[in-house]
Amino acid sequence: MRIALYPGSFDPITYGHIDVLRRAKRLFDKLIVAVVENPRKTPLFTAEERKKLVEEALAEEGICGVEVITYSGLLIECAKKVGAVAVVRGLRATSDFDYEFQLALTNRDLDSEIETVFLMTAGQYSFLSSSIVKEVKLYGGDVSKFVPRCVERALEAKFKALGAKVNPHAL
Ligand code: PNS
Repeated sequence: MRIALYPGSFDPITYGHIDVLRRAKRLFDKLIVAVVENPRKTPLFTAEERKKLVEEALAEEGICGVEVITYSGLLIECAKKVGAVAVVRGLRATSDFDYEFQLALTNRDLDSEIETVFLMTAGQYSFLSSSIVKEVKLYGGDVSKFVPRCVERALEAKFKALGAKVNPHAL
C-alpha cells in the first residue's frame, strides 16, 4: 500500500488545500493529512481546532477515507512513523518554490527514502493562502469562495471570541 503524507499548518484549511488533497488521493492508496502543532507563525487555531476543521471540511466536501493527524517535531520523522513513501506539498505561484525547495531537499537529506511530490493547485486557487483568507474575513470580506462553510463559521466564532485582541499582522 502506497501511503502519502500531506503536511501543513492548515490554519485554517482552504479550498486550495482541498484541491491538492483530491489530486493526491487519486495518486496514492492512502492519504494522511498531518497538521503541524507548532507552525512557524503563531496559529489562529489550536492544533486540535485545525485538525477538527480539516475533518469537518472533508465531510462537507464529501471526501472520505482520509486520515487526519497532528504532529510535532520533524515532518520526516512523522512520515517515517506512518510508513509514508511520499510527502505531498501543494505548489501555487513561483513564490512558493524557494521555500518548498529548501523543505524538500532538507527532508531528502534527512531521509532519502521518502520523496516530496509537488502537486499544482487549480488555477483558481493559485493566489489563495490561509493568511489572506483570515485577513479578508477579519475585515468583513466574503470568503465563501475560498473556504468551506464550516471554516467560515469557525473564523467568525474565533474573531468574535478574540475581539480586539486579534493582531492583523500575526495572521
Ligand atoms: O503549511 P505550511 O506552514 O507551509 O507547512 C510547513 C510544514 C508544517 C510542512 C513545515 O514547516 C514542517 O514540516 N515543519 C515541521 C518541522 C520540520 O520538519 N522542519 C524541517 C522541514 S525541512
